[in-house]
Amino acid sequence: LLAAPSLVRASTWPERPVTMQVPFAAGGPTDVMARIMAQKLGDVLGQAVPVENIGGAGGILGTQRTARAEPDGYTFGLGHMGTLAANTAFYKQLPYDPLESFEPLGLFAVNPMVLAVRPGMGRNLAEMRQWIARNPARLTIATAGTGSVSYLGALLFDRAVGAQATLVPYRGAGPALQDTMNGVTDAIVDQAVTVIPHATGGTLRALVVTVPQRLDQMPAVPTAAQAGLPGFDITVWNAAVAPRGTPEAVTRRLTEAINAVLDDEAVKERFADMAIQIPPEEERGPEPQRALMVREIARWGALTREVGVEPE
Ligand code: MLT
Repeated sequence: LLAAPSLVRASTWPERPVTMQVPFAAGGPTDVMARIMAQKLGDVLGQAVPVENIGGAGGILGTQRTARAEPDGYTFGLGHMGTLAANTAFYKQLPYDPLESFEPLGLFAVNPMVLAVRPGMGRNLAEMRQWIARNPARLTIATAGTGSVSYLGALLFDRAVGAQATLVPYRGAGPALQDTMNGVTDAIVDQAVTVIPHATGGTLRALVVTVPQRLDQMPAVPTAAQAGLPGFDITVWNAAVAPRGTPEAVTRRLTEAINAVLDDEAVKERFADMAIQIPPEEERGPEPQRALMVREIARWGALTREVGVEPE
């Protein structure tokens, strides 16, 4: 409330730290990507970029916080296919409008998802399906809450196998993953970035990847189509937004800074290790993001109507 947007001095911005809001708990995919980018972004901007986690309600709480932040260039947020598109189909009254409440800053990552299970749920999809057949309607799938991408993945998987699973909400995929590792929940469909270290470490078993190609990081894990579930196909896009009204001179510099981070060799290497794809130049920046959001809001609206999902 102190600085009216018109008083933001775009020429001297940033004069203090720029907060990056993450609408999910620490330890999940958004948080992991945020922390990798924040460090380099700080170097590019010449100011610290602290990461603030605001989890809960499938990412709505944190995304709403970004929408309501002072549009002075000192707060922006990360979002994805769930918070910035699919959520519009899952909630009757979303407390923000993905297209109206923000200035898009650009797409920064595209991620495959992985179905992973707790130890004891089977060594492959066929064994997991035998477990499901022996335990009708007993499967529990951990998610980051209604409308999050782990929720979308869980819904698609549940419908593909007819498990009538119970979806268990957490404040982010980080704690959801943790409870699956601990055997509190049976399964999770999460972005590969956070599954890979646990699957290679043996604390979780990855059963299928949700994209048409196997991942170099887990070559033994089949694609869903190879394992007999061709319809279980989902890829996650991740994008950054500033509160509506943030001066254009500032959002432009934020976009440029994010793109510089994506072109940094060390960031590229770390993203590649975690199967995170960096969008090509022509897909970056505000305009491609806006167009993507429009398409995705329509796609998820149609998809949910088709399968008869009732908004909360
Ligand atoms: C997270 O960062 O926790 C995830 O992106 C949440 C989700 O599954 O949408």
